[in-house]
Amino acid sequence: MNKPLTTAESQPNDLSQFWMPFTSNRDFKAAPRMLVSAKGIHYKSHDGRDILDGSAGLWCVNIGHGHPKVVEAVKAQTDTLEFAPSFQFAQPLAFELAQKLSGITPDGMDRIFYTNSGSEAVDTALKIALAYHRIRGEGTRTRLIGRERGYHGVGFGGISVGGMVANRKFFGPLINGVDHLPHTHNLAEQAFTKGQPTWGAHLADELERMVALHDASNIAAVIVEPMAGSTGVLVPPEGYLQRLREITAKHGILLIFDEVITGFGRLGTNFAADRFGVKPDLFTMAKGLTSGYVPMGAVAADNKIYDTFMSESPGGIELFHGYTYTAHPLACAAAMATLQVYEEESLFQRAADLSPHLEDAIHSLKDLPNVIDIRNIGLVGAIELAPRDGAPGARGMEACIKAYEAGLMVRVSGDVIALSPPFIVEKSQIDEMMDILSKVIKAID
Ligand SMILES: Cc1ncc(COP(=O)(O)O)c(C=O)c1O
Repeated sequence: MNKPLTTAESQPNDLSQFWMPFTSNRDFKAAPRMLVSAKGIHYKSHDGRDILDGSAGLWCVNIGHGHPKVVEAVKAQTDTLEFAPSFQFAQPLAFELAQKLSGITPDGMDRIFYTNSGSEAVDTALKIALAYHRIRGEGTRTRLIGRERGYHGVGFGGISVGGMVANRKFFGPLINGVDHLPHTHNLAEQAFTKGQPTWGAHLADELERMVALHDASNIAAVIVEPMAGSTGVLVPPEGYLQRLREITAKHGILLIFDEVITGFGRLGTNFAADRFGVKPDLFTMAKGLTSGYVPMGAVAADNKIYDTFMSESPGGIELFHGYTYTAHPLACAAAMATLQVYEEESLFQRAADLSPHLEDAIHSLKDLPNVIDIRNIGLVGAIELAPRDGAPGARGMEACIKAYEAGLMVRVSGDVIALSPPFIVEKSQIDEMMDILSKVIKAID
């Protein structure tokens, strides 16, 4: 029997087939929140309402929705070359984009490996780290160190080094040989800090204990998000990342920054590495790379790592890794156009300029009921609500739904409400977001 087609113009009349990710399918399908179009800073809901995008989609739509330059670039690329393999062949945009990216990556981190998502970028970075040590003749360096409350996507590598229990506990033993640094969040010491907390740099010293336990000769890499986003916006304490850099460098351990959220202006600089003045050996990117218009991720590697592969591996393929859609032409076109928009509209600077306004606005919610912390950095802010007894996350989810009903999309992680608007947001729209949040927080018990 032929199934009826659902066209783009019509609303779906059956929600059962799409198994939604990171979603309570049963709750959503009982009361869907469907987004049917978007322009600028607003989504349009299926019931015809304008929804302020307080989360840049999912931390990605930094340039705002429906930017004609990116839309046109993707359309034009579809007409010219919709696909070309990157295994033993290539298409020119891949090289042009890598060159353009190397213009904004930290000095000496000019080698770009493309993926299709942040999760793939994380697994790619971990694999490069392992292979790098091995081809240098230090193949015993296999241990990986992540951090509690880290989010590094959903591949087996990413959940192994990640530190969010619900993302790990269902999936067996994961990859072995992984340790976790303590997370840096401490309400007693840091609550209501504006920007970087002064307490917590010493937590990086835990790495020395891991080195003492395992010996550096067994440790390949440490991976952290410079600012942890998905786990509820954990801003790095002053000096913490510097300390991690010192210890990793001392022991020949590679330092990987996961910049899937922090890359491309979110903290007001090209990358978090620039903001904090700490250069890793490898870093991941995704989301803001194409502003979410087409999926794409990437890893930037220190030139010395790439050079080692070129000089030390025997002839032939140097890295047995890659994806069918590595350097997909549509993604490359979207990324090229997105980078151009960032530049022409000075959007990273705009994010930096808006940051004090966001800081003042969000901290003005300090005295609302159940608010136990507010934190911010760059164009990111978070409000932490006290968990309900026996129901952690319930208050946060209720806030998310009520905000949506009141015309604002936010991302929640447990009981933390995160705000990360597109960089084109106006100050008045930030104020509007706070107004909505204030009413929502007052309305939930
Ligand atoms: C720091 C970080 N790493 C990796 C990922 C995974 O990216 P993706 O969902 O594109 O696989 C995310 C997604 O939020 C992220 O925030």
